[in-house]
Amino acid sequence: MIRAALPALELSDIQGDILRAYGNSYDCASYAFVRIDCEPEQARAWLAGVVDHVTNAAPWSEKPLTTLNVALTASGLAALGVSQETIGSFSHEFRQGMAARAELLGDTGPSAPPKWDQGLGTGDAHVLLTINAQTTADHRRALAKMQAAMKDTGGVSVLYQQDAELLHGAREHFGFADGFAQPAIAGATEDKAPGGGVPERDGRWRPLAPGEFVLGYPDEDTSVDRARRLPPAPTGAMARNGTYMVWRKLHQDVALWRRTIAAAAARYPYGDARKLAAKVVGRWQDGTPVQTHPHGPDPEFDPAAPGANDFRYRNDLDGRRCPLGAHIRRCNPRDALDPAGKLSLRHRMIRRGMPYGKVLPEGALEDDGAERGLVFVSFQASIFRQFEGVQTPWINDGNIFGLGTDKDFLLGEPSGSGKMTIQGEKPFFVSPQEAFVVTRGGEYLFVPGMTALRALVDGTAG
Ligand code: HEM
Repeated sequence: MIRAALPALELSDIQGDILRAYGNSYDCASYAFVRIDCEPEQARAWLAGVVDHVTNAAPWSEKPLTTLNVALTASGLAALGVSQETIGSFSHEFRQGMAARAELLGDTGPSAPPKWDQGLGTGDAHVLLTINAQTTADHRRALAKMQAAMKDTGGVSVLYQQDAELLHGAREHFGFADGFAQPAIAGATEDKAPGGGVPERDGRWRPLAPGEFVLGYPDEDTSVDRARRLPPAPTGAMARNGTYMVWRKLHQDVALWRRTIAAAAARYPYGDARKLAAKVVGRWQDGTPVQTHPHGPDPEFDPAAPGANDFRYRNDLDGRRCPLGAHIRRCNPRDALDPAGKLSLRHRMIRRGMPYGKVLPEGALEDDGAERGLVFVSFQASIFRQFEGVQTPWINDGNIFGLGTDKDFLLGEPSGSGKMTIQGEKPFFVSPQEAFVVTRGGEYLFVPGMTALRALVDGTAG
């Protein structure tokens, strides 16, 4: 196979939040789902004012106080006047929307769409505005500006808004450092190659082809053969420099998580609750991988350091260091399924989640009734192959890992086996549980490139 030279990414035509982790350098964020109740021309006039402020992925000379990014649902494209023929060229799962895929995603019982927050998953959410802000004052100003622009136009309003805030130490609510293991992308984040790219035989890693994450570029299939066409993309202006986005609001029951881990740890013969929790996630709370440090976190561990993510599972095929069903091992098995990582390299995603809600005080074991959790955001060229390809067979099933019907214990609800097996001298079973994580709603979206956004405004997007 010939690996063709990869074209450079057109950074100034790609929206910034895809390739840049704003969440780690901006304290506050808002996700505002906008509904359009007017004629497409009027909605496009509103969008014209928004587009001028959208942040792209070109390097900054100075970090802006706020950033703004735009994504659309399939019904949003229609509300802006995009033809059904053009909408038909988008992927099947995007057109269906997340709610229609609930069974497949495991969004059943308390996570089922009829129980979702009002406004999500109904087809009424048309445009998602994502605002990141350095301070609460910047955040307030940006939100006021957004509201004023809608008032001026009329017929456009916020249907649902979720605010989010970076927690101390970039932790998620169960207490773990999150968001730093990201794919290495050729032409954008090559520096993340060790551990973030594709494992090679000589111990090195190579970055992934950009078309895995941005449309209009070769992906891991087309990049190996010049004669192949580019990966599937919508027609017209939206074929280039855009991508698909998954947005999910995942409620976390922190008290239940703590109680479950504490009760299981009382029976766990190989360590304490911190070790057991680390085995469930695959990382210690500070982010140290249990694969490289099975007995305790590395006090020197720095998730931002080059090589912090540089580990493989090949020398641990029995899962004695990092359990076969640990969250990070399921979500990115690296070389665990085959030495060259071929079974995992097409299922990678850029994660840009942010926690929402206040922290449950340390040590509290009873729920205080407050809403808290993770706004899970991922960007990928194919929702079906990448996000759903992880969520359905890897998080919600254990077959491919030789774990029968075990689900991801960190997320999975108790149907299936309900248990997790922690491999060791003797296997230890974490017994059936209730769901720690419940879906409160979500949407599948498309993030157009800058040229495509202008075409939407002009009514020339097809
Ligand atoms: C409330 C829900 C979730 C929590 C608390 C959570 C927590 C974590 C934590 C603590 C890490 C390790 C830090 C890092 O690698 O950046 C991680 C990694 C990861 N998670 Fe999650 N996660 C959640 C949901 C999901 C979902 C729904 C998916 C995908 C469908 C997912 C995919 C991943 C991936 C791909 C990694 C990186 C693995 C690697 O490259 O080694 N997570 N998550």
